[in-house]
Amino acid sequence: MAVDRPTSFWLRLLKQRREHMYDETLDLSTPIDWESEEERQAAIAFFNAAFRAEEAGLRQAHEIAAEIAAWDPVLAETLRLYGDEEGWHRELLTQFLAWIGGEVRPMGRVVRTFYGLYGRAKRAETIVLVNLMFETIGATTYRLSLRTAKQHPAIRQMLTILTRDESFHVPLNAHFLRRILAHRPPSWLERLRLQAIYHGLSFAMIAIAAASRETAGRFDRLSFRALARSYTEHLGRLFVNAGHLGFEPSRLLLYLFGLSRADLEGGDDALSAAAAERNADRSQVVVEAL
Ligand SMILES: [Fe+2]
Ligand SMILES: [Fe+2]
Repeated sequence: MAVDRPTSFWLRLLKQRREHMYDETLDLSTPIDWESEEERQAAIAFFNAAFRAEEAGLRQAHEIAAEIAAWDPVLAETLRLYGDEEGWHRELLTQFLAWIGGEVRPMGRVVRTFYGLYGRAKRAETIVLVNLMFETIGATTYRLSLRTAKQHPAIRQMLTILTRDESFHVPLNAHFLRRILAHRPPSWLERLRLQAIYHGLSFAMIAIAAASRETAGRFDRLSFRALARSYTEHLGRLFVNAGHLGFEPSRLLLYLFGLSRADLEGGDDALSAAAAERNADRSQVVVEAL
């Protein structure tokens, strides 16, 4: 079971990270020798998807920070610093996309529908739950792609930064969710609503995995099954290890991907404070094998 740390713990880590954040720059000295134009286009699609996630994370974090400041100024500051990290990722991705000859593109249909719904979410707990799930699939995608995508120092550096930081954002968002739910415990109807969002999103992630195979698959070289199974496993593990948050993975999804609830218990607990501290240290780039 994940041990929650006080908000001051997270704020201290974020402040430490901020000290060196802007010193870390991309080394774009070696041009990429793409295998095909399709591979380059798929890379542009892949990093566009990452860009959209950063943009949405940044905007939503700053919006709810303004609201939370009224009842917990320290939590609000923590949210702002978290949003700033997503803003920094957005800058790095803008630079990286230009360097590979791409640009920020309009969103595809599935992604547009998703962000349309996300943008309309107004309640802090809904926004944070969606963020938490998105951080988890982001960290999962980047970590898997590090092994399967083209091995080039700049691609590796970009994916490593994203893997490391999104892995840190997972337990951080779990903390936000706990604090918000503790501040204003949801009624049974609100709980039901959150459950519906959790389950709806768990299935939506599978649709996103399928849609991204068409656009980004030539870059990350991940099969639909490998990606969707990994999403189910990591989202399942996240919430099984945080039983107190009250979300249970769908039995149907676990069944579809040959996973059991026992597979998800313990093991790599992404919510632990130890995992957060591991991923918090910017001077140490830790990318663990899955
Ligand atoms: Fe990010
Ligand atoms: Fe993030």
